[in-house]
Amino acid sequence: MSSLNDNPGDIQFWLNGTTQEEIAFAGYWNNEEIEKEKDWYILNGNSNKLTDYLTRKTTYHDEFRSIVTFMETNGLRLKGVGVDIAAGVCWTTALLSRIEGVDTLYALDISRHRLEKIAPRVFDLFGAKQEKIVRVLGSFYDIRLPDASVDFCFMSQAFHHADNPDLLLSEVRRILKSRGLILMIGEQPVKGRAILKRYVKNSVSSCLSRGMVPGRPRLLPTFQELFPPDTESGDHYYRLRDYVNMFARHRFMLRQVVEPNFRTFIAVKER
Ligand SMILES: C[S@@+](CC[C@H](N)C(=O)[O-])C[C@H]1O[C@@H](n2cnc3c(N)ncnc32)[C@H](O)[C@@H]1O
Repeated sequence: MSSLNDNPGDIQFWLNGTTQEEIAFAGYWNNEEIEKEKDWYILNGNSNKLTDYLTRKTTYHDEFRSIVTFMETNGLRLKGVGVDIAAGVCWTTALLSRIEGVDTLYALDISRHRLEKIAPRVFDLFGAKQEKIVRVLGSFYDIRLPDASVDFCFMSQAFHHADNPDLLLSEVRRILKSRGLILMIGEQPVKGRAILKRYVKNSVSSCLSRGMVPGRPRLLPTFQELFPPDTESGDHYYRLRDYVNMFARHRFMLRQVVEPNFRTFIAVKER
């Protein structure tokens, strides 16, 4: 059985000197057993599961189309060198590789079986231009590409999995050229109504447990206390203003593309 720290065959390996334990949640993403039930585990030729997941169960495929169309209609051509950050089974890598101006795409992820076993099936399924794609086993906190060498980074359900979003953004800023772009799909900013609901629920349990248990919920919790990260998969929850502030801190201008059922984001690296 292969481990994360063996050098995989035709996949680039950017983990020298780093162990799995040093990368948050790497154990979870490399547990193939728990993936077997998932919609993207298509090793039995059951590829309908994945297309159904992307087009019917979720809005992810629509989000991809929407953001690419927005770029095209606003004169923002996707071209040159791109990094699909936390590419997973590489469905976005496959679709991006079909865009004419895109020359090279690094598909970077920490999950070995996703890159090694599932991605090749996904490339066939989505007609990827495989000659443009370089799969990389590595961490998005340590992207081994030179400064200012990348035209765009794509993140699909990726940003909210970073337990250190500032480190991720500074690494992405480092590799992007001036005016380079980040395209983000699969983010769901927490809205006021959801915050209110949780706040009311929290207040009720805080009042009910008054004077009873030491660790009872605080009556006036912070947003982070109301929406703590998922301890298994590392999902983090952000409000729209959290996204704006985080990107502004790293000198990115963040723009939303708002559709009726979802929103996507484009960030431009500023000086
Ligand atoms: C929700 S999945 C999204 C995968 C893919 N982009 C998609 O849209 O299907 C999150 C991905 O983040 C990857 N990941 C988590 N932490 C990472 C890290 N530090 N470096 C690289 N990839 C990471 C996981 O292995 C997983 O494939």
